[in-house]
Amino acid sequence: MTGIKIQKQKFLNQVIKMKSTKKDTKEWFKEWANEYDDTLGKIKRHHHLLNLVVKLSNVKKNQKVLDVGCGTGLLSLKFLEKADCFITGIDSSLEMLSLFIEKINKLSLSDRIVYKLEDAGSLNFKKNSFDIVASTVTLHHLKNKYSTIKKIHNILKPGGRFVLGDIDMDTTGRITDPKRLLRMLEWLKEEFALALNEGGVEAFSRMYDNGKKHILNDGEYCIGFKQWKELCKRTEFRKVTVKSLPDFKWFKVLVAIK
Ligand SMILES: C[S@@+](CC[C@H](N)C(=O)[O-])C[C@H]1O[C@@H](n2cnc3c(N)ncnc32)[C@H](O)[C@@H]1O
Repeated sequence: MTGIKIQKQKFLNQVIKMKSTKKDTKEWFKEWANEYDDTLGKIKRHHHLLNLVVKLSNVKKNQKVLDVGCGTGLLSLKFLEKADCFITGIDSSLEMLSLFIEKINKLSLSDRIVYKLEDAGSLNFKKNSFDIVASTVTLHHLKNKYSTIKKIHNILKPGGRFVLGDIDMDTTGRITDPKRLLRMLEWLKEEFALALNEGGVEAFSRMYDNGKKHILNDGEYCIGFKQWKELCKRTEFRKVTVKSLPDFKWFKVLVAIK
């Protein structure tokens, strides 16, 4: 083998090693849970995303809302600030959900919020159960996105809204493709700068780790909003619209009406 070939092989072996030591999503959030509200929860851009999701959901008093990947409850609590609705929060991480449960008890909200430790891939609810199904920065973790969208369509009432707030970033492609890396770094540099500025070193360090996880994931996670929109149309949602977060084009909110 020539020197260049040996070097390339060494690099590929390193990438494979990094991939094989990657943590699965549950482990990831188990470690992050206690710092979540002090890291992502401190970044204004995240709150702007949650606010836009609530606004575009058009939530009304007594409506039933499902929060998929509710985590520590940042989105659910914003729904309740907007209207006296009924929330069901599901999350696959016991550690994230436990922090939400503490808040529910502290704020005496158990008549308004129920929670379930459940995977978003199963969505075990009856047909036509919810007025709104909302999800923020969660569904990109799912491998079978189309199957989940079909389930969301099924559990929404006719006229109900699916509201998705997430990263508009397509991470598909080869890990070793430099174009893919550059495309992602363009987004990540803004994300890292915001985190450092608004949440300090702790937030920066967490978002830096998240970025690395996405880069090394080889397309397991994120798809762009063009693809989300197509999946919703294929699922026969009546109307699908996408809005960018003002001043932060990498984050978008999709509204699909059943
Ligand atoms: C980045 S946090 C977002 C939490 C909250 N929605 C917010 O915007 O602050 C992602 C959440 O999705 C949850 N999650 C990831 N994969 C999931 C899955 N397959 N099913 C259910 N929850 C999942 C994680 O445990 C975590 O609480």
